[in-house]
Amino acid sequence: MSKKLIAFLLALPASAEIIYATSYNDHTVTSLKLDGSSLTRVSQNLDCGSEPTWLTLDKSKSVLYCLNEGWGGSSSITSYRTSASGTLETLDVLSVLKSPVASTLFANNSKLAVAHYDTSAFTTFSVADPTNLSLLGQQTYQLTAPGTVPERQDAPHLHDAILDPSKKFILVPDLGADLIRVFQVDDGAAAATAVTSIPTIAGSGPRHVAFAKAGRETFLYSFNELSNTISGYSVTYKRDAAPEFTRLFDVPSGGPGTTVPAGTKAAEIEVSPDQRFVIVSSRGENSLDIPAFDGEGTIKSDPLQVFAVNQQTGALTHVQTAPAGGRNPRGFSLNKAGTKLVSALQDDNRVVVYERDVRTGKLGKVLAHATVGSGPNNGPNYALFDE
Ligand SMILES: *[C@@H]1O[C@H](CO)[C@@H](O)[C@H](O)[C@H]1NC(C)=O
Ligand SMILES: *[C@@H]1O[C@H](CO)[C@@H](O)[C@H](O)[C@H]1NC(C)=O
Repeated sequence: MSKKLIAFLLALPASAEIIYATSYNDHTVTSLKLDGSSLTRVSQNLDCGSEPTWLTLDKSKSVLYCLNEGWGGSSSITSYRTSASGTLETLDVLSVLKSPVASTLFANNSKLAVAHYDTSAFTTFSVADPTNLSLLGQQTYQLTAPGTVPERQDAPHLHDAILDPSKKFILVPDLGADLIRVFQVDDGAAAATAVTSIPTIAGSGPRHVAFAKAGRETFLYSFNELSNTISGYSVTYKRDAAPEFTRLFDVPSGGPGTTVPAGTKAAEIEVSPDQRFVIVSSRGENSLDIPAFDGEGTIKSDPLQVFAVNQQTGALTHVQTAPAGGRNPRGFSLNKAGTKLVSALQDDNRVVVYERDVRTGKLGKVLAHATVGSGPNNGPNYALFDE
């Protein structure tokens, strides 16, 4: 072990963890150190470009991929070498089609699949050498006519890319086309081929999806931005063919019988590491009053909604409405143990870490918080534990 590495390890207490947060308004990837109740900025990096958003971590290689939405039109992927101290070393920056919004590693972390919102595209990249990213495949979609919600469904808008539990298929919800597009991982030049697509409820606008693997059952949950509902599907695998998806239910984001104010926009969905809970974030509700983080009075918060997954049927039971920690919780992540949740509050320039009870699935008290971003709105939009 080199002297330099030992110095870094000593500088970071054993209990400390690194969290990365992306922010639009200050154009940074911020590395935060979480140590007990303290969350402090340890470094900031500007190489992800003008509008850093989604992060994908390859912990085995200590490589972090950052997508730049590039609202002005210049979009990119940046690869970073991570370090125990939190500082990021830029390895490569590759120009890509406009508005990449989410990505997933596949093919044993040698390739990256990306969903593009404005340009209605699905793209794949070789990241086998993270210092030399290269485009593999690019598929662009069209609509013959606008969808049920014409102002949002003027064109296909691909919003997420996730690898299924078999690691053979990539699912890409298309908010504009009311479809979940399914790609099969293959050895061809493009690395993944479209095999089927799952029609969603007209006008639902699927934004993000997450799998739950419960014993021998597999369920898929789609969080729908336009209808503010969660659709549940059972997933049946048939040897190497594309899995079959059967829609089981569609429930409002706050649970059966609830409604959301006009202007609410469903955002993120995560399944807990033990596959027993679904958590979603809802933007624009301002429905909760929580103690202000500076200690003066109260502030408005959007909710995180927690549901328990019936391990046999995939049905969801609402268990908690918890504060997201402020306004516009576009992105949040759980740690691997499921004991913490980090929430990025886009309209409050704040990142908050909540404790989580693994047994009940409920979110608890604020563990730590930090200011990330500067200026009005469009601050931190995604946060991820380095693990
Ligand atoms: C995946 O990559 C890891 C490390 O890069 C390697 O050790 C492993 O053998 C690979 N597995 C497969 C199935 O290629
Ligand atoms: C980078 O990757 C491209 C495409 O795979 C390849 O043609 C090129 O030789 C690589 N460059 C370096 C410096 O490795």
